[in-house]
Amino acid sequence: MQVCRTISDGRKAVATFRANAETVGLVPTMGFLHAGHMELVKTAKAKADRVVVTIFVNPTQFGEAADLDSYPRDEARDLAMLQDAGVDMVLIPEVSDVYPEGDETIVETTRMANMLHGEVRPGHFRGVTTVVARLFNFVQPDVACFGEKDYQQLQVIKRMTRDLAFPIDIIGVPIVREADGLAMSSRNVRLTAEDRAAALVISQSLDAAQAVTDKSVDSLRDTIRKTINAEPRATIRGLDIVEAETLSDISGPLTTPTAIMLSVEFGGILLLDQRVIQP
Ligand code: PAF
Repeated sequence: MQVCRTISDGRKAVATFRANAETVGLVPTMGFLHAGHMELVKTAKAKADRVVVTIFVNPTQFGEAADLDSYPRDEARDLAMLQDAGVDMVLIPEVSDVYPEGDETIVETTRMANMLHGEVRPGHFRGVTTVVARLFNFVQPDVACFGEKDYQQLQVIKRMTRDLAFPIDIIGVPIVREADGLAMSSRNVRLTAEDRAAALVISQSLDAAQAVTDKSVDSLRDTIRKTINAEPRATIRGLDIVEAETLSDISGPLTTPTAIMLSVEFGGILLLDQRVIQP
């Protein structure tokens, strides 16, 4: 596994793959890898001849400098995991290489970036699309894999890729779940045993929504609320039911694939999950 620390070395490594007519799959990450990332790598390996992973804690997507400083990092562990997973090249660029002195170019999906989670985290998705566009340009992959868990991020990246006509297939990788259905997250280990057991209600509420026979935005919302509110340890912090591709507001009976984006708090720990429901 090659480790490149400059964009120029990364490009050279990709050029050697291309010289052999090999396809390239990209998995962009901010490091501190977990099972969800490894699932992205697995998907990229199945879709392309060579897999490139980027590790870059992107400063432009953080609101507070403190969040950026406290972002967990463990490069040695990340590299060992990627080596084990059979990754071909890891690009770990410096901030000054990604954002050169005097940099002034941004990429933004103007509507989708500033709604839902983007409304409470101003500038976050602009930072994501700005860095992902640059990573696409550095690596020029055929496919790129992102988790469906960050559902809005995935839709924002798909829209940017379409609008800028990047010739890249964006692949959404389904959420990896614990045996009992809880979406995997590095936060799960911080739950108390009681909260961990109670957190099951999140995926149960999505199953219940999926099983509703008379599907409308209201019936989905009521089902989710009733299921989760029956669990006293859970507090719903966000429940968005939107058109799956555009994230636009919808109402009434379901006529189009619909995304439920859910965040639920257990003892100060916020857990996310999502499900696309067919009409
Ligand atoms: O999902 C992430 O880890 C980041 O938002 C991404 C896509 C690597 C961009 O920095």
